Amino acid sequence: MSDTKAGNDQLRHRITVTVNRARHEQVVEDRLTLADFLRERLRLTGTHLGCEHGVCGACTVIVDGAAVRSCLMLAAQAHGTAIETVEGLAPDGQLNPLQTAFKDNHALQCGFCTSGFLMSVTAALREGPIQDEARAREVLSGNICRCTGYRGLIQAVLDAGAAEAKESVQ
Ligand code: FES
Ligand code: FES
Repeated sequence: MSDTKAGNDQLRHRITVTVNRARHEQVVEDRLTLADFLRERLRLTGTHLGCEHGVCGACTVIVDGAAVRSCLMLAAQAHGTAIETVEGLAPDGQLNPLQTAFKDNHALQCGFCTSGFLMSVTAALREGPIQDEARAREVLSGNICRCTGYRGLIQAVLDAGAAEAKESVQ
């Protein structure tokens, strides 16, 4: 549990989280969302906010291995967890295989939705192979894109799944 303090009419919590392998200890207000914590406190603005109601998936990050909509989670609830954001996918500036598959398949236009898609697919790829279109569609179904077609997204997921499967048998 986080250490909780009352003051200025709202509760404050001292939390410790690991974000992209870096440990952070901060005091947060009880209503601060995880999305705002990441964007405003840690300046990790690759996590985007669209609907802020859990619908669009733009704010998806990975918390303890699970894809989570960070607009629906409070920063205080994240105490003690390990969080991954899109910035953690390419720590040395080199695109990872999934990001490369997005680029090669033109799976984005404006890019607003892209970080959310990448994190949803990253979590799904760790659960098991994505080798058919039905599974790719299922993995993508929680995220919304307003400007690119879904065909490129589906192919990017299939290509990334194929690359992962190939790597696992080598
Ligand atoms: S901003 Fe979180 S689901 Fe849309
Ligand atoms: S690439 Fe523009 S909203 Fe998806």
